[in-house]
Amino acid sequence: MESRPIIAFDFSTKEEIEQFLQKFPTAEKLFIKIGMELFYQEGPMIVHFLRAQGHDVFLDLKLHDIPNTVKKAMRGIAKLGVAITNVHAAGGIEMMEAAQQGLIEGTNQNQVVPKLIAVTQLTSTSEKQMHQYQLIDVSLKESVLHYAKCAEKAGLEGVVCSAHEAADIHQVTKPEFICLTPGIRPEGTSAGDQKRVMTPAKARAIGSNYIVVGRPITQATNPYQSYLKIKKEWNGEI
Ligand code: C5P
Repeated sequence: MESRPIIAFDFSTKEEIEQFLQKFPTAEKLFIKIGMELFYQEGPMIVHFLRAQGHDVFLDLKLHDIPNTVKKAMRGIAKLGVAITNVHAAGGIEMMEAAQQGLIEGTNQNQVVPKLIAVTQLTSTSEKQMHQYQLIDVSLKESVLHYAKCAEKAGLEGVVCSAHEAADIHQVTKPEFICLTPGIRPEGTSAGDQKRVMTPAKARAIGSNYIVVGRPITQATNPYQSYLKIKKEWNGEI
């Protein structure tokens, strides 16, 4: 089946979303990433709004709290009917298991349990910062691989990671473990503030299972054309 790039909706308001969606045919059902910026301003209704139009949602809230709190929060998130959501692996195996349990408990009958994935080390964290502030003594790569293994052990379906890390993560996890990768840039587009980028085709070749693409689509002169082109490249059609 054709796989859709996930579009990062880094917008602040519903109005901006409505304006953006007008650039797409209504029949084009999208996979949309909603993060803290939008969720904390518009609230859960923004997920209902997109779901009602037939779009799938990755709710990127990166939960990290005591297991009981995360479990209860996940019950609520499951009721929104999102396809994917996430937690910080640094919250620990018990917290990740509780998150998974919360999603199962909160999912309405005849709905699919959202996929739960973990954030390992944020790509904004450098190895130096990790040593200095987290007092983690190993290399950044070792820490990422360790967190990926913890996520797998806790029963999660995958991790958010840089496409540059996907191949290594696949080597230490089960074959169906998901690597969802932002930092994607088609040839000729601006990297913006992303430090290490990769094209959709290369990401697929190296083992990304889902790609998240923001500005190359949201800031494009013609977002729909840009989306279609990225989708084709991602599916190996060009
Ligand atoms: O516009 P761009 O394609 O860079 O957007 C990428 C999206 O993925 C943004 O929403 C960004 O916050 C998110 N993200 C990322 N790197 C990570 C985790 C999330 O770029 N490691």
